[in-house]
Amino acid sequence: MFRTFTHRLLLALLFYMPLAMHAGPAFEDNMAQRTLACVACHGKEGRAGPDGYYPRLAGKPAGYLYNQLLNFRDGRRHYGLMTGLVQPLSDAYLMEIAQYFSALNLPYPAPQPAIASQETLTQGRALVMQGDKARKLPACVQCHGQAMTGVAPNFPGLLGLSSDYLNAQLGGWKTGQRRAHAPDCMAPIAKQLSNQEVAAVAHWLAAQPLPAQTQPQAKPSPWPAGSDPINCGSALLIPAKPSAATPQPKPASALAVQGAYLARAGNCMACHTAQGGDAFAGGRAIATPFGTVFSSNLTPDPQTGLGRWTASDFWQALHHGRAKDGRLLNPAFPYTNYTQVTRADSDALYAYLQTLPPSIKPNKEHAMRWPFGTQAALATWRALYFTPGEFQAEPSQPAEWNRGAYLVRGLGHCAACHTPRNALGGNKNSSDLAGGMVSQQNWYAPSLRNVQEGGTSENLAQDMLALLKTGIHPGGSAIGPMAEVVKGSTQHLSDDDLKAMVVYLKSLTPPSTPTSLPSKRNEERKPSTALGAKLYEDRCIQCHGAQGEGVNGAYPPLANNRAVTLNNPVNLVQIVLYGGYAPATTGNPRPYGMPPYVLQMNGKETASVLNYIRNSWGNRAPEVTELDVNQARERP
Ligand code: HEC
Ligand code: HEC
Ligand code: HEC
Ligand code: HEC
Ligand code: HEC
Repeated sequence: MFRTFTHRLLLALLFYMPLAMHAGPAFEDNMAQRTLACVACHGKEGRAGPDGYYPRLAGKPAGYLYNQLLNFRDGRRHYGLMTGLVQPLSDAYLMEIAQYFSALNLPYPAPQPAIASQETLTQGRALVMQGDKARKLPACVQCHGQAMTGVAPNFPGLLGLSSDYLNAQLGGWKTGQRRAHAPDCMAPIAKQLSNQEVAAVAHWLAAQPLPAQTQPQAKPSPWPAGSDPINCGSALLIPAKPSAATPQPKPASALAVQGAYLARAGNCMACHTAQGGDAFAGGRAIATPFGTVFSSNLTPDPQTGLGRWTASDFWQALHHGRAKDGRLLNPAFPYTNYTQVTRADSDALYAYLQTLPPSIKPNKEHAMRWPFGTQAALATWRALYFTPGEFQAEPSQPAEWNRGAYLVRGLGHCAACHTPRNALGGNKNSSDLAGGMVSQQNWYAPSLRNVQEGGTSENLAQDMLALLKTGIHPGGSAIGPMAEVVKGSTQHLSDDDLKAMVVYLKSLTPPSTPTSLPSKRNEERKPSTALGAKLYEDRCIQCHGAQGEGVNGAYPPLANNRAVTLNNPVNLVQIVLYGGYAPATTGNPRPYGMPPYVLQMNGKETASVLNYIRNSWGNRAPEVTELDVNQARERP
């Protein structure tokens, strides 16, 4: 009795002393902590959400879970919130997450009572246990294990899933909404089943109790004599083939090796790779205010890629924004910045791209609103906003500054997001970095000239270096499009180049200039409400701490974090609605995640909690309105 009492008292004290504890009482550095963003939907320890819509993860074969994470990332399965969360993560980390959930051996809930007729259930049972020889439909247990608990490492079990979920998945395969790695053996099987048979199978499976032993079968069942074994792509995938995120071309020469590095500095792969497509083979849709532009195939295929281009053709594209055939290119390709690249670096990039495995993929035609895509419109735009010009070093500045300026203004194309644009998507000074909206994405890229936004000072130099190298720093975290920049580009740059960039960025905010922007919305500032405080305590405190102090290396602080107090609140709305992981980088390979709240908080609640964090712990920032939130909720 006494022990329990002191125990409780201690717990209570710990709970009410978050300041003294600093890191917060709940923090323990383990996989459970790193996957809190997942269990927000998938239930405690991945035992499934309460209504069966969020599938169980615990105890499923690791290879199967891993393949699903790749499927969401690469577009073979569709659920936007899942895709957004797994996108910044590396294959190695996704595998680790899969192994973590797979190793959790937890009891299953009782099966759903069968609500179908006996006849339907009998039909379902027969299909699962025997298949249908006449239609050459194998028994489901052939692949999913005789006990239906799956076969390690890649075949999932079929028990412990709700009939709604089973119906949705089999239906997804019938319509092509859900796909697995090719050859996708489930697709022809699901397509052979009528809707009525799908329902029968789902009802019967959902009503089956789990056996005492719920672990997946260790080895596949042998195929019966006389039947043709069916291969499954997902079953052949261990170890997984390197995905588009990690292409391993064999650079042939020192020049190509240098080009590979420069391609990182320019983040060429990010735009030139479609979701789940071959690296650099193009086809990624890029939304612009004037319609959709598709990136081109940069692999050396002679018909559809750059196979017939010379180094001069390539230079013409990078420097002048003209294709080999003379066509003016759309400035969604940031040649307004790449024009600064030297001819020597252009040649190295070209040499590298020519070493890639050729991929046959014809370029897609852009879908621009008339007249914006026409050559005449592009010519006008270029006359207003584009001046070809190679980088000129400033002799008064040291070599390090010049190297930084070259990378930031040129290949780094930081200005593509961090520079304000007018209604025509142009800016007279294509390197001014005074802060701008990321085209069509409802993210604000802060001013890199103002230390209250994203600018660098003497004090912040180390932090900005850490941000570009690892994706996190003691005062904040790279989120949204900036996470993609760190993952695809800056983390791969040498320390010397990153330092040079920071030296240049620091020079954009000389200490003598006043740094505060006129804050138009300041008068509208309202004190934070009780609702905001309550929501913060219920939903955010566990990670970000009672004083918004965060946990160093895991959860960004919200107190004294300039991302929180930016005048423009769009980034905050995005992160709270859609959550996210910091990018997985060499310096921070296993980042922590934030759950999405779009399904749990309405516009008013989201605005309240944001107003609370914007005006607590010494933070001061203008009000976020319900309208700000609702505009982001309506994003396509
Ligand atoms: C906003 C809610 C939500 C969050 C957060 C979320 N998931 Fe999911 N997840 C889902 C839904 C819904 C599905 C099923 C989608 C479908 O029907 O295809 C799913 C499917 C999956 C699957 C496939 C399961 C199976 O049996 O086929 C895996 C694996 C998975 N999620 C892992 C994760 C991991 C790991 C995280 C954290 C990084 C995560 N999820 C975060 C909602 C979520
Ligand atoms: C030839 C082998 C094979 C046969 C036969 C087979 N499956 Fe599958 N099934 C697979 C593989 C492989 C996967 C995993 C696909 C992936 O990686 O996404 C799978 C996945 C599934 C899933 C998704 C599970 C989840 O948690 O989301 C369901 C449901 C399913 N199968 C049902 C069935 C049913 C019902 C039958 C019988 C009518 C059947 N399968 C027959 C190989 C098979
Ligand atoms: C922000 C997205 C983006 C980035 C980053 C990007 N590109 Fe592109 N690129 C595009 C788009 C979009 C097009 C298509 C333009 C058009 O057809 O009008 C394109 C076209 C091209 C072309 C012309 C190809 C042809 O067939 O006409 C070349 C060459 C090219 N890019 C090279 C590169 C290189 C090299 C890098 C990295 C240094 C790079 N791109 C980075 C978006 C991007
Ligand atoms: C695709 C658009 C995009 C590009 C390209 C881009 N950024 Fe960003 N950047 C953003 C967005 C959006 C934010 C705000 C989100 C955040 O704080 O992470 C941001 C934030 C930042 C911050 C502030 C981070 C903090 O925690 O205070 C810095 C510094 C920064 N970017 C530097 C750069 C540099 C240097 C480059 C060029 C190498 C660059 N960015 C290229 C979109 C971009
Ligand atoms: C499970 C832990 C967790 C919870 C709960 C959580 N967050 Fe976060 N939060 C994170 C992580 C991790 C990041 C960094 C994400 C990234 O880099 O993409 C983050 C980032 C943020 C950021 C951006 C900070 C920056 O420097 O860019 C804000 C703002 C934020 N969270 C607010 C909230 C609010 C408000 C709530 C409650 C409604 C909340 N968080 C709940 C883990 C959490």
